[in-house]
Amino acid sequence: MTDRYGVIGHPIGHSKSPVIHRLFAAQTGEDMTYDAFDVPPEALDARLRAFVREGIRGLNVTVPHKETMARLVDQLTDRAHLAGAVNTVIIAADGRLDGDNTDGVGLLTDLGANLGVRLKDARILILGAGGATRGIIPALLGAGPRELCIANRTLERARDVASHFERLGAIAARRFDELAGATYDLVINATAAGLRGEVAPVPESVVRPETVCYDLSYAMTDTPFIGWTRRLGAMQSHQGWGMLVEQAAEAFFIWRGVRPDTAPVRAKLPR
Ligand code: ATR
Repeated sequence: MTDRYGVIGHPIGHSKSPVIHRLFAAQTGEDMTYDAFDVPPEALDARLRAFVREGIRGLNVTVPHKETMARLVDQLTDRAHLAGAVNTVIIAADGRLDGDNTDGVGLLTDLGANLGVRLKDARILILGAGGATRGIIPALLGAGPRELCIANRTLERARDVASHFERLGAIAARRFDELAGATYDLVINATAAGLRGEVAPVPESVVRPETVCYDLSYAMTDTPFIGWTRRLGAMQSHQGWGMLVEQAAEAFFIWRGVRPDTAPVRAKLPR
């Protein structure tokens, strides 16, 4: 029987997950379907129960449901528990829900395996202190950076995130203006500023030609952050397309036990 999967979010119209998972299924010969479902926040609980009744085998979860989903599943993997967010749900035959989070490993695979960025002993700056930041911190700390700093418009939120993860490793919390003069090997944009066409007010001195710049967001053309870093002369600026494909591959592997080749799928998307 054909197994059913899907992604839930609100809005969901622009999600590339169906394209990616259908390419994975075609490549591996897995007998499955994958669809996008628009689920508004107030309907999440009821729709989740309906998906279970209908026999759906797994779900990807995107904005704005990742944190709520962490409270709705029966059990969390360590990495989903640490992130406080779920992007992958495994639905057992008896209806039991397991929540996992493949965002962190997706980012590490894109940075390390695809882009050749060395994280061990690197000085890393994350811009923003929301859910996207929480999702990637455990994986980044696990890679053994020399320094991890979170900078945010609201310092209090950066401090909250730093103290939440302090048992995993040292994290500095700064306001953007406190970054003047500091330099990093890798700067990751995890703010929502780009959604409004803006770039976080970060001192320009942070971006040097050799700084690897990575935007967790992605778009068909340069995101505001990517455009800003290119104008400042960064030689390596990457959107989060690769992370999107890699987190999907990890979810696919969890569901199907088969690891798809991401290269031909990444080649079909912008970079
Ligand atoms: P999510 O949980 O999906 O990451 P969020 O909770 O809205 O989204 O947080 C987004 C992050 O983007 C926050 O760090 C936010 O800063 P504040 O904590 O100060 O609100 C940041 N952000 C949003 N718009 C921004 C802007 N125009 N400039 C700089 N930072 C911005």
